[in-house]
Amino acid sequence: MQLKPQEEEILQQLDRRRIPAHLAIIMDGNGRWARERGLPRSVGHRQGVETVRQTVRFCDYLGLKALTLFAFSTENWSRPAAEIDFLMGLPEQYLQTELPELVKNNVRVNLLGDPERLPAQVQKAIDEGLSATKKNSGMALNFALNYGARAEIIRAVQALAGDLQRGKIELPIDEKLFDSYLDTAGLPDPDLLIRTGGEYRISNFLLWQVAYSELWFTPVYWPDFNRQHLLRAIADFQQRERRYGRISPK
Ligand code: FPP
Repeated sequence: MQLKPQEEEILQQLDRRRIPAHLAIIMDGNGRWARERGLPRSVGHRQGVETVRQTVRFCDYLGLKALTLFAFSTENWSRPAAEIDFLMGLPEQYLQTELPELVKNNVRVNLLGDPERLPAQVQKAIDEGLSATKKNSGMALNFALNYGARAEIIRAVQALAGDLQRGKIELPIDEKLFDSYLDTAGLPDPDLLIRTGGEYRISNFLLWQVAYSELWFTPVYWPDFNRQHLLRAIADFQQRERRYGRISPK
């Protein structure tokens, strides 16, 4: 991958053995990016897809094990119908152009969230992405679509309670067992959570999984988020001391 000199410079300073294994991103600010340019919100979302393309390629290049992108929340259904329609077209558009490269690069596509409410054409596009990449063993690329962490936890509890009733599992219930009922089963928890767009909120994203994630907020709008921003986030992450409740050994 051809990097710019400034990107090379930050990359050289990173500890390549301590790249976050799992990065989660709340991609915010598409609408404001467009408004500031006097453009319709849809143009911001389209530009946001371009950032998704670049980010996925770069995370794969950096050797991340998992990248999770918050693309549509359970709360986003309250947006105007035209915007919802537009947003629902994006996964298909993205996969249409990127799937061959994802397959070639050994990336595995996953869906987080309840697929039931997604329009049939989105489910179909995602299913195709899932089946074309299911044997891949490289980076997991997780799209959170119709995703809300509280809804995910409730679905997990319901499935767990059902299995308990049917005698498929036994008490006691511990964290590991509960984890295996979440949409993220099998994935490591995010090491780093990035939110673009200047808000300081988690917005019902991966509430269980981010218990010990490092958080990184930037005012940069998602369409403007680039490789240099990502490298800076990782550089900051590498400066943090992750204590998990313990005392610093220093
Ligand atoms: C939040 O910005 C963003 C979204 C609700 C949609 C995010 C979707 C993408 C970036 C594209 C997803 C791409 C694929 C391939 C699925 P906002 O609209 O709330 O922005 P605002 O806060 O400035 O209004």
